[in-house]
Amino acid sequence: MTQLQSVADTPAAASEALDMFQYEWGIYHKLVRANEMHHRELGQILRRLIETRFDRPFTFLDLACGDASLARCVLKGSKVSRYEGIDLSRPALKCAAEVMAEVPFAVTLSEEDMRDAVLARPQSCDIIWCGFSIHHLDRAQKQDMLLALRGALRPGGIFVCAEPVCRASETRSQFTSRWEGELRRRFSSLTEREYAHLWNHIRTYDYPEPPEDWIAMGERAGFSRVQELFRFPGDLFCSAFLFER
Ligand SMILES: C[S@@+](CC[C@H](N)C(=O)[O-])C[C@H]1O[C@@H](n2cnc3c(N)ncnc32)[C@H](O)[C@@H]1O
Repeated sequence: MTQLQSVADTPAAASEALDMFQYEWGIYHKLVRANEMHHRELGQILRRLIETRFDRPFTFLDLACGDASLARCVLKGSKVSRYEGIDLSRPALKCAAEVMAEVPFAVTLSEEDMRDAVLARPQSCDIIWCGFSIHHLDRAQKQDMLLALRGALRPGGIFVCAEPVCRASETRSQFTSRWEGELRRRFSSLTEREYAHLWNHIRTYDYPEPPEDWIAMGERAGFSRVQELFRFPGDLFCSAFLFER
């Protein structure tokens, strides 16, 4: 049974949000379908972690869940007892409700800021997953978020994320100049207009950190062990990390 929890909106704001979501989600979805953000490998990593650590009922919190399609594949056949998806976008949550409609476990989808969601769930999660969404925060906010994430995990719980990474001491403008052309080659599934829209988003909102800094921030937040699990092939762009409580 899927529960969708959201707040009221004006019809005009709702329709504008829906148009923007459909355009941007369409772009992102093209990248996902072409595996240009390596969701296939990330799904395999999450499945392996679940198989080796959770041979018992567990809860799964999906932060900035989007349409929840990665989680649905990952959780299929597992012992998950409850899935919670959090996103600020109501249209995304509506897609997630369709994706999760027939699953055999309890599903709650909440229109909530991910940091507020984590703070509101002390010691209640076995697995927290966040794909490509924490990098919008600045360094101090990321540190704060990691502290809150540790507090939301039960003993034995894990947090896994995939986020953009940069070279040690690379500035944000060095990161964006390194990537503007290279990313165009990697994201070959997009049209010029779609790429321009996406690039504007990356240039404006992405704050990558070096892999070693993600690890240091995790240790500072009190995680007992932090590892880089996967690095996108080619030049440094995105990595997945495991944080163990
Ligand atoms: C790039 S998509 C990632 C979707 C999915 N996690 C994945 O890995 O494919 C980013 C998602 O984060 C959501 N988002 C951005 N900031 C958020 C916040 N502060 N709290 C909750 N959701 C947020 C957006 O609405 C969008 O659905």
